[in-house]
Amino acid sequence: MNPATSAPSYYQRHIFFCLNQRDNGQACCAEQGAQQSFDHCKARVKALGLDGPGRVRVNKAGCLDRCAGGPVAVVYPEGAWYTYVDRADLDEIIDSHLRDGVPVQRLLLAPEVGR
Ligand code: FES
Repeated sequence: MNPATSAPSYYQRHIFFCLNQRDNGQACCAEQGAQQSFDHCKARVKALGLDGPGRVRVNKAGCLDRCAGGPVAVVYPEGAWYTYVDRADLDEIIDSHLRDGVPVQRLLLAPEVGR
């Protein structure tokens, strides 16, 4: 249930990947493979049959303003912020959190990480 509306959430879990690209030399998630990671997550969620209403949605996002921890992604409704390095990290987020509902503690961003 969505506590704000008392209505069921359209998606059970929703993950947003920052794909922001900066051309001014500042760090950004795009230069750390965010697009490939997004593509991998989208494909794996679909391959596992997790996608669709009432299940999981994988979306692109612009800068989420936590660039210092990039690349970053966030999962709602838990508001779990992740940083990831490789496909094994992504697969763990997909399998443990998106599929099984158990956040991956070792990949959570520290609360103080910002821009
Ligand atoms: S560039 Fe990804 S969080 Fe800012």
